[in-house]
Amino acid sequence: AKILVLHGPNLNLLGVREPEVYGRDTLGDIDAFLVQRAQAAGQELETFQSNAEHALIDRIHQTRLDGTAIILINPGAFTHTSIALRDALAGVAIPFIELHLSNVHAREAFRRHSYLSDIAAGVICGFGPDSYRLALDAALLRLDRSGA
Ligand code: DQA
Repeated sequence: AKILVLHGPNLNLLGVREPEVYGRDTLGDIDAFLVQRAQAAGQELETFQSNAEHALIDRIHQTRLDGTAIILINPGAFTHTSIALRDALAGVAIPFIELHLSNVHAREAFRRHSYLSDIAAGVICGFGPDSYRLALDAALLRLDRSGA
């Protein structure tokens, strides 16, 4: 099965951006780790980062045609602003896991609300780069149990 990992705005700066909040791993480090871990479990994984809301939405629309079984998404700040991203995910009706490096509940009040969480299969936050690994493991379990 195919797993799609989406990274939203500013995540291209991982490793240099507020390392005390987001850690020192770069997005390249994280993507390489995820591809390898998925492969070891016999699954295919593709990653996509954009700072543009429309590019993320277009990539989500493509999943209707490309065989994506599950999506992992760190929507960055679009988590707290984007009804359009929510509608795109609801529109393709492919299960998704929302994840964040930081514990969004322990920061500014505006980070506590997500436009995605209530329609997500699950939400993981607060474990730094390990949030991606935990989200992938949850996705692999889900695929395994569905026989994909
Ligand atoms: C984030 C949390 C968001 O509030 C923030 O805007 C980000 C990153 C995280 O991974 O912790 O860009 O999604």
